[in-house]
Amino acid sequence: MNPVAMGGGFDPNVPNAARMYDYFLGGKDNLPVDREAAEQVLRYVPGIPLGIRENREFLIRAVRFLAEQGIRQFLDIGAGLPTQRNVHQVAAEYAPGARTVYVDNDPQVLAHARALLQDSPQVRVIQADLRRPEEILDDPEVREHLDFDQPVAVLLLAILHFIPDSDDPAGVVGRIRRSLAPGSYMAISHVAVDENPQAARPVERVYDNASAQFVGRVSSEVAPFFDGLELVEPGMVNLHEWRPDIAYVPPELEKVKNYFLCGVGRIR
Ligand SMILES: C[S@@+](CC[C@H](N)C(=O)[O-])C[C@H]1O[C@@H](n2cnc3c(N)ncnc32)[C@H](O)[C@@H]1O
Repeated sequence: MNPVAMGGGFDPNVPNAARMYDYFLGGKDNLPVDREAAEQVLRYVPGIPLGIRENREFLIRAVRFLAEQGIRQFLDIGAGLPTQRNVHQVAAEYAPGARTVYVDNDPQVLAHARALLQDSPQVRVIQADLRRPEEILDDPEVREHLDFDQPVAVLLLAILHFIPDSDDPAGVVGRIRRSLAPGSYMAISHVAVDENPQAARPVERVYDNASAQFVGRVSSEVAPFFDGLELVEPGMVNLHEWRPDIAYVPPELEKVKNYFLCGVGRIR
């Protein structure tokens, strides 16, 4: 894999997972190479933009829920390019004074995040890789901003499906979980390919040369990421089923099986 694909620098010829996500969300922070790769993915999974919008809605509901539980510290790993209603902005609405650290391994995400998100003393942005969680947990800026003796909410939203089994994603989640004080929470979302297993391999191939490599997992492979957490109701469900604000279900989602799973769990 080339250094760019490992998050080592900017190359306009390499599709970038964060910019492809931005394109799926209807954003403008993407290049032709990203749009081309994203369009290839859409050929196999046309419902991706809807899933991604539901993921952002889950983020908002989860952060609000966590603020309501008294959480005042957020560690958002795999933060992505800034968009509307980022974690610290939602947190500020429900828990003024809450502190947030954004983590990503993509230099371009970091540049945007530093420019757009570090608009308050409550926010820090650091470059680190989830595959080496100790680097995040021991980072001096993280330690200065967040008090790990107090509850912290760790958000792993739409990132674990970029961590291959060879990097032991369940082990990574476990190491983070064990570093958190009782009363902390983890929120996780992860694409599930139950609905469309035949699309998994072609989509993985599109991401093979991108800045992060997608791993298609079915729900039984996603469930272990929640091990050791006391899942709050309704448990691990599809994004639109997690504590929806209104009873409306988009017609496109009425009959789908597992497409994008999520959950929030408490640490005892
Ligand atoms: C699909 S975006 C998700 C953004 C946001 N969390 C959300 O759910 O809307 C995934 C992000 O994870 C980042 N990422 C991928 N692999 C990573 C790793 N090993 N360490 C840190 N960040 C990573 C990518 O750069 C990208 O910004």
